[in-house]
Amino acid sequence: MASLKTHLAVEMTGLNRQEPWEACRLGRRPTPSPGPLEVLVRVLCAPINPSNVLVLQGLYPWRPKEYPCVQGFEGMGVIEQIGEDVHNVSVGQRVIASSGDADQTGQGLWQEFIVVPAMRVIPVPDFIPNEVAAQFSVNPWCVIGMFRTLATPKEEYILQTAAASVLGRMFIQYAHHQGVKTINLVRRKEQIEELKALGADEVININEGDVVARVREITGGRMAYGAIDCVGGELTKVVVESVRDRGTVLIYGLLAGTNLKGGILDFIFRGVKLEGFYVGLWLSSFSPEQFQELVSHTMSLLGQKVINPLIGQKFKFQDFKNAIKKSLEPQHGGKVLLVSE
Ligand SMILES: NC(=O)c1ccc[n+]([C@@H]2O[C@H](COP(=O)([O-])OP(=O)(O)OC[C@H]3O[C@@H](n4cnc5c(N)ncnc54)[C@H](OP(=O)(O)O)[C@@H]3O)[C@@H](O)[C@H]2O)c1
Repeated sequence: MASLKTHLAVEMTGLNRQEPWEACRLGRRPTPSPGPLEVLVRVLCAPINPSNVLVLQGLYPWRPKEYPCVQGFEGMGVIEQIGEDVHNVSVGQRVIASSGDADQTGQGLWQEFIVVPAMRVIPVPDFIPNEVAAQFSVNPWCVIGMFRTLATPKEEYILQTAAASVLGRMFIQYAHHQGVKTINLVRRKEQIEELKALGADEVININEGDVVARVREITGGRMAYGAIDCVGGELTKVVVESVRDRGTVLIYGLLAGTNLKGGILDFIFRGVKLEGFYVGLWLSSFSPEQFQELVSHTMSLLGQKVINPLIGQKFKFQDFKNAIKKSLEPQHGGKVLLVSE
C-alpha cells in the first residue's frame, strides 16, 4: 500500500505518436491534503480510454500546460480524507471520481491518490463493481448523448461503426432498450454472434460484400435514420451513403486517423449532415439539474445492467506501459484498466 506522503503516478512527460506508452514514466508525487470542500480519493481503478492515448500521441487538440502531468479523465476509488465542510461523502466510501479538466490541471486519475472537489465525486452503490464504476462517465455519457442527439424514432435503424468496441456494445444495449434498431459494422466475423447476443438487430462484416447494398436490403430501401462513426477514413463515405436523405452522421472518433472521406453529392443533393460529437462539449451546456438527471439515469442503466461495460485486462499502475500497449492491440476485448495494489 502507498505511503500517505508520496504516491505512485503515471506521469506524462511529453508526446509520442508512434509509441504513446513512452510519453509517460512512473513517478512519485507528494500526496496532497484536501482543502475545504475537497476530498482525497485513493484511486482503485481507472480505465485507459482511446482519448487518453490520443492525448499522449498529440492527436487530440489538448496540450498539457506543463510536464510532467497526469492523465486519466475518470476512475473510482475510496475516500481517504475529507476537507472542511464536506458533508456529501465520508471516509471509506467508494466513489466515482472524474477529472474532466485533467488537461488543464495536469491532475488525472492515473495515480494512487487525487484531490478533487467533493461535489464532483459520485457515491458508488454496493451493487456496482469497481471495474464498472471506473467506466461510469466517458463512454456511457457519449452513448446517451449521441442517442439523444439523433432522436431516432422507435423501430428505425441507427448504423454504427466499430460496433464491437466497449462503447459500441453499450450503444447496442441502450438502443435496444429504447426500442431503436441497430445496424452494426464490425471488421471480424467472430463479433457477429457476440453482438447479436447483446441485442444487435443486424451485424455486417465490412470486409464481406457491399455494406450500402446490405443496409438498403435490411431497411427495405429506406436506409438508416442516422449513424454514429468512430472510425473515419474510407469508412465514413460508406456510412454517409447508408443514411437516408437529410439523415445525420455523428463522427466521434478517429480510429482510422484524423482524415475522412465523405461523398460531397450526398451532402449537397441528399442533405445528409456530418456533425462531430464530443461528450465534453455536449455536457458543457448542462445545468446542475440536467447533470443530476444524467447521473441518476446512468446509475440506473448500470445498476439494472441495461448497459454493461465490457471489462478487459487489469494492470497495476507500475505496469502502465503494457497496459497502454494492450489497449492499442487489435482484438484487445474489454476496457483495459489500471488498478492499485
Ligand atoms: N467523442 C467522444 O466524446 C468520445 C467519447 C468516448 C469514446 N469515444 C470514441 O469511441 C471509440 C470507442 O471507444 P472505446 O472505449 O469503446 O474503444 P475500444 O473498446 O478500445 O474499441 C475499439 C474497437 O474499435 C475497433 N477498431 C479499431 N480500429 C479500427 C479501424 N481502423 N476500423 C474499424 N474498427 C476499428 C476494434 O476492433 P477489433 O476488436 O477488431 O480490434 C474495437 O472493437 C473511440 O474511437 C473513442 O475515441 C469518443
